[in-house]
Amino acid sequence: MADAFYIAGGALVVIALVVSFIGMRSDNFPSPTLLRIGIPLVAAVVVVTAVLAVKTSSEEAEHREHEQNEAASVESEVQNVENQQVGVDDESTGQPAPSSESPDALGKQVFADQGCAGCHSLEDANATGQIGPNLDEALVDKDEDFIRTSIVDPSDEVEAGFSDGIMPTTYGDDIAPDELDALVAYLYGATHPSGKKK
Ligand code: HEC
Repeated sequence: MADAFYIAGGALVVIALVVSFIGMRSDNFPSPTLLRIGIPLVAAVVVVTAVLAVKTSSEEAEHREHEQNEAASVESEVQNVENQQVGVDDESTGQPAPSSESPDALGKQVFADQGCAGCHSLEDANATGQIGPNLDEALVDKDEDFIRTSIVDPSDEVEAGFSDGIMPTTYGDDIAPDELDALVAYLYGATHPSGKKK
């Protein structure tokens, strides 16, 4: 659109030059016939130029706005990156940032996903199941090997006062090895307040 504006504007300038040049040279210029054709023609070019000028400037305004928006979005992206870097800094200051990578979080997740809470109470997981032993009490004096065996082979050692055959025996197959490790570590940590391993 800007190009068209410059062409129309240029045409107007050329017309003005030609008219004034001929006007200086010839006496009976402009002739009445020429005026009848020339005035509407020049008027039309003027109108076209004016319309194009308006359009071009409004387009340029839009363009500028667009550029400003782009600049603003780049700025907000930079802001985001900065915020993320602040987050990293927080972690490096030793604040325990909640991360799905931590074995505790994964173990807790596995505990919830596998439905352990339906049968077992475990304060750390807000679990209140009553069918199996309360793990806070049952595991406090147990080591990780015992916990692992209890999960993959519940019949190995049946807790006094509870029946064998209630806890599913399929966890050894259903829980991926790394998830089982995380679950065992989580249960040990959650039931041993000192958190220290034997
Ligand atoms: C359908 C109910 C049920 C579900 C689900 C269940 N358990 Fe059990 N769990 C029991 C019962 C009943 C016992 C006690 C009998 C036994 O030791 O087999 C038990 C025993 C245990 C023990 C041994 C406790 C002790 O003092 O000997 C651990 C540890 C344990 N469960 C962990 C888990 C975990 C972890 C999950 C989830 C992956 C789970 N249980 C899912 C019913 C369940």
